[in-house]
Amino acid sequence: MITPVILCGGSGTRLWPRSRKVKPKPFLPLVGDTTLFEATVLRCSTDAGFSAPIVVTGAHHLDHVVDQLPDPAASQIIVEPEGKNTAAAIALAALRLPEDAIMLVCPSDHHIGDCEAFQNAARAAAALAADDWLVSFGIAATAPETGFGYLKQGEPIEDSDGRRVERFVEKPDLDRAKAFLADGGYAWNGGIFAFRAGHFLAELERHRPDIVDAVRASVDKGHAQGNAFHPDPAEFAKIAGESVDYAVMEKTDRAAMVPATMAWSDIGNWQALHEALDKDETGNAVKGRVELKNCSNVLVHSDGPRVSVVGASNLIVVVDGDEILVCTPEGAQLVGKLEGAVNQ
Ligand code: GDD
Ligand code: MG
Repeated sequence: MITPVILCGGSGTRLWPRSRKVKPKPFLPLVGDTTLFEATVLRCSTDAGFSAPIVVTGAHHLDHVVDQLPDPAASQIIVEPEGKNTAAAIALAALRLPEDAIMLVCPSDHHIGDCEAFQNAARAAAALAADDWLVSFGIAATAPETGFGYLKQGEPIEDSDGRRVERFVEKPDLDRAKAFLADGGYAWNGGIFAFRAGHFLAELERHRPDIVDAVRASVDKGHAQGNAFHPDPAEFAKIAGESVDYAVMEKTDRAAMVPATMAWSDIGNWQALHEALDKDETGNAVKGRVELKNCSNVLVHSDGPRVSVVGASNLIVVVDGDEILVCTPEGAQLVGKLEGAVNQ
């Protein structure tokens, strides 16, 4: 049995004005009518052999989580007093599970087009995790992205669908990312991991004992309330905020990967969303009251007012309440730096 551990912490400012602090990216129906969080839970359904999920989230997102879980009573929810990044979030879940539980750590803000391929990769990753590998989902690298981790693919691991990871490099600069792409032997880290709970904690203990100790103290002094668990806020505040990629994956000698071809996107910005959506024959994708004339490669989202666009190509228009965003595909990466995005 695989236990999905669903992480809900990020803010998604580059998808402003739709994504706001009060209702960020995971809780929005960006692709189809299902939110990214709901889709993440559905992909790991009990019908497909997963156990009920553990959701690790911030106190300010708890209401959205409870609203959007199909069966909140069956799930465990760990409520973080503040965000301390993914090493701590995963350690919290690991400490609430039996040592031999196989955790499948899933970000709640990705789109995955091929659910069956995801589930097959999850099973392959779980088998490796049971043998004490720390397993990443490897995604074919198609551009020198600097926002991802890179996995140098090593030798195949016997009797498995995976390979060793010779080197894990988190968020390289552009020159290194270009070199990795040219090398051809690197995959992107998809940010989905399989770990045996006890093994993850042992590896974290080895490389960042301070994080394990502080998370453990917050759990020991924490309290359960129904199916929610609240770590102690004063102990939690002492945890060093570090991502699992830097804290463990870059340092361990037990890193492995399974190849995952599953139409994956982290929907990092409006342009990435446009790429993931179904489009008409000229590349347009619209949502809400929108009229287009002679447009190509245009993305228009409106939650209310009618938006009419004529003769445009390569354009993104988003209307949300009283905020309007107009940007080019190239500009999409900078949306998170806008005053509105920073403050809302
Ligand atoms: N509960 C909780 N608490 N969740 C968190 C926290 C936290 O403090 N911080 C981040 N998360 C969640 C985010 O909501 C997201 O779902 C997931 O953990 C990953 O965090 P990101 O902040 O989105 O990481 P990233 O995108 O910069 O990098 C990671 O993902 C890439 C793929 O999208 C890394 O694993 C990269 O190596 C990887 O390529
Ligand atoms: Mg991310």
